[in-house]
This record gives sequence, structure tokens and C-alpha cells, in this order.
Amino acid sequence: MEYAEIMERLAKVVSTDVRPIPEDALEKEKERFYETHKRSLELFEEAKSFIPGGVEHNLATSHPFPVAMDRAKGYRMWDVDGNEYVDFLLCGAPIILGHHYDPLDDEVVKIIQEKGPSTGLTSEYELLAAKKVCEHMPSVEMVRFLQSGTEADMAALRVARAYTQRQKVIKVEGSYHGWYDTYVSNLHIPGTGALNSVGIPPQAYEMLVEVKPNDFEGLEKAFEDNKDEIAAMVVEPVGGESGVHPVHPDWNARCRELCSEHGALLIFDEVVTGFRLDMGGAQKYFDIAPDLTVLGKIVAHGYPSAGAIAGRREVMEICGAGMGVRPFMGGTLAANPISCGACYHAIRLMEENDAVRKSTEFAHRIVEELNGLFATRPDLPFFLYNFGPIIHYVTTGFFAVDIGGPKAFEVISRRKTAEDYQMVASNMGLNSLAGTRMYTCMQHDDQALAKTLEVWEYILSLIPKK
Ligand SMILES: Cc1ncc(COP(=O)(O)O)c(C=O)c1O
Repeated sequence: MEYAEIMERLAKVVSTDVRPIPEDALEKEKERFYETHKRSLELFEEAKSFIPGGVEHNLATSHPFPVAMDRAKGYRMWDVDGNEYVDFLLCGAPIILGHHYDPLDDEVVKIIQEKGPSTGLTSEYELLAAKKVCEHMPSVEMVRFLQSGTEADMAALRVARAYTQRQKVIKVEGSYHGWYDTYVSNLHIPGTGALNSVGIPPQAYEMLVEVKPNDFEGLEKAFEDNKDEIAAMVVEPVGGESGVHPVHPDWNARCRELCSEHGALLIFDEVVTGFRLDMGGAQKYFDIAPDLTVLGKIVAHGYPSAGAIAGRREVMEICGAGMGVRPFMGGTLAANPISCGACYHAIRLMEENDAVRKSTEFAHRIVEELNGLFATRPDLPFFLYNFGPIIHYVTTGFFAVDIGGPKAFEVISRRKTAEDYQMVASNMGLNSLAGTRMYTCMQHDDQALAKTLEVWEYILSLIPKK
């Protein structure tokens, strides 16, 4: 779907009244959820005494309580109560070969059994993995492995500051670049400001300049107003929260131009898009060369300790390890043999299996079929769009609400209704990201498609026609 149509349809969703599931039907679904997720509930209740809020991970926080997973294989997952799910969360994007993919697991297990998990020293896997990343990503000549996307985003800014001898960074409202102080502003929904900044000193934002998504004039002004001060601009190349706020087709090119004009570095945060949108990431897909690339979980395909900054040699060379005058970064477990071995073999297996193409083809099918299903209910504005194997499905559009406008208060009810749909989907055995996003992998098949359609037919049947 083209940008103009996506924006038009998003506006329509937001201007249409939210369509909740009626109370009696919702109550039944809730009872069903409690009935079929007893062990998950037990674990959650006990966890509350040992883990703040009873759950560790933002993605796992779900309504009415988090579902504890037991195992995953291919595109399927099973929870601790034995319920089966077709999974479109895929660990938040890194799984593209499929969960628990034997040829990858075998290689990783071999490393553990034959060599041990880590020594704190270097190993051949670092080089193998770095070479693989360089081979695919057009702008990348050197790689430094870290331990998470957050670390890599933080390191990229430090490198940009060291390289340009400037301090400020431009970011786009509604984007996510991990939870480093300076980046935690206007998260999720543009205009929400410091809502999530509890525990962050206001000084952390002194070096932050923010612009609205796709605001070309605002961006030019940001560079003009901060002449010779901008070290870098960081973007999610398919748009904030990886496409929830979809990118205008000319945005990335304009960011590139303005960064070059003003002597700032362009950082592509490819934590979601790297080795998913294309083997060469968004930079290949859009044919734009960033100065620095941030990679995250995908570089270990779900194995722990995964993140990297990468980029052109001249910039990257200043962040070598060891003692000396350079932007300091560390991490005892960074670049350990398991993560780097997983990175090398995962990329090799993606190549061999044409994983991105297969995942993309499936994503197109699911978007087409579900859009077809939604079209049978013209009273509902629901729709899907995708950037390759990154799918956004819009039902209540809470991300798109104008927080400065008269409908700002609707965010809560819109979010709640999306969560209710998500709970029903979960009851029916379908898992996605936050009720708004679906990632596909190379193993999704006709059965996964049929299940998805069945679940959405059921959800639609619960929403009375108008
Ligand atoms: C675009 C983007 N950048 C950075 C991050 C942070 O990565 P991590 O969770 O590994 O710290 C994420 C996480 O989802 C992300 O989606």
C-alpha cells in the first residue's frame, strides 16, 4: 500500500468511533482466558513477589495478564497451559528462520559443547560474524558487536559525537531507539513528551532536538536552528516504532541530504529492519547510505547478547577497543562466541534459505487476505499495510491519535479496545506484537494464514454491525 493511502486510511480509523466488543461477549472471553491460562496466572501471581510488576519485558506485558511460554518451534509456540499459538511476534523481529531452527541450534550447541560459552577474550566467530554483516550491508565496512540494541544506539551517538566534535542529536518523535536517557522522549506517540522520563534528569534532554514524523520543514529548521551543533540524526528507516508512523517515501533521502549538508552523521537504527526488510537492511531497500548503522537482536537470531554498531571505516575506526583516547564502550559478554556464532550461522542460513524473500511473500499474502476480509465489513475501518515482512494492522489506531488535538483522551479507550481484540486473538491461538504488528518468518504457511483468517473472522463476529 502506498504512503498516501496508508495515511488516508489511518486518518479514517482515528476519525471513526472505536468499536469495542460488547461487555457480555467480552466478559465471556475474559472468563475463557482465565480458564485456559491457569498456570500462566499462577506464575504471574507468584512472580509479583519477586519481579516488579510480575513481568520483566515490555513486550510480555499483556492484558489481562502475561502468558508464560513453554516452548516454540517454527512459527508455533506453546504456553505453560499447553495452548498452541501461531506466532507473529517472533521475539520482536529477530526470528526469520523460524523459532528453534535446528540447523542454527545445532551450530550453537556445537559451540557450547566444543568450546564453552565465553572466555572474555576474542574468538574467530567475531571475525566471521563481522564479515557476514559487511558482506550484506552496503554502507558497512566495519562492525563492533555490543550486547543489545539499546547499547548500540547509545554507542552510535557517542561515536558520532566523538567523530563530529558536536553534541546534539536529532530524533523523530514516536520513534524507539532503546531506553538510553536521551532517547526516552516522545515514545510511541508523537507529542507525549516526557511521559516516560521518570528517573531521567532533564539535562539528558538538553542535547536532544526532536522533529515530528515526516515534517520536512521542521527538520530543515531543526538543522538551521542548531547550526554546527548537530552530531547526528537517528532514524528508524521505515518510520517510528518501525513503521507504526510510516515513513514518507522522500524522508530518508532528505535526512541524508540534510545530514551531509550540515556535517552531521546519519544513523539508521536497523534493529528491526536489518536482515529482515532486506539482507542489506533498509539501507539497501531504500538505497540510502547512512554513516552508522545500529543492529540489535537480529544479529543473534534470538540468542542472547545481540547488538552492533556498524558503518563506514573512517567513522568506525575511532571506536576500537582497548585503552586510549576513543569513545569508550565495553561489555564483558559483548561479541561472545555464542552470539557471534549465532550471528554468522543465522545470516548464512538466511542466505541459503532465501528467508527474507519467503517471509516477504507470506507477509504480502496475509496483508492481501486480511484486507480482503476486513473489506467485507465496510462499517469497520480496519486495514493492514506492510514493509516487507513487517506488517502493521490498524484496528483502533491509538498510535495515530493526535495527542495535541480534541481526541487525545481517546488514546486510552482505543488502546483498551485493541488489547481486548488481542486477548480474543490469544484465546483463539494467535500471537502478535501489542495488537498492532505482525512479523513473518520463512516458515509461515497456508495453515498459519488459515488460522489468522479464522481468528479475525471470529473477532469481527463479536463486533456488532452498524
Ligand atoms: C528500532 C529499535 N531500536 C532499538 C531497540 C532496542 O533494542 P534492545 O531491546 O535490544 O535494547 C529496539 C527494540 O525493540 C527497536 O525496535
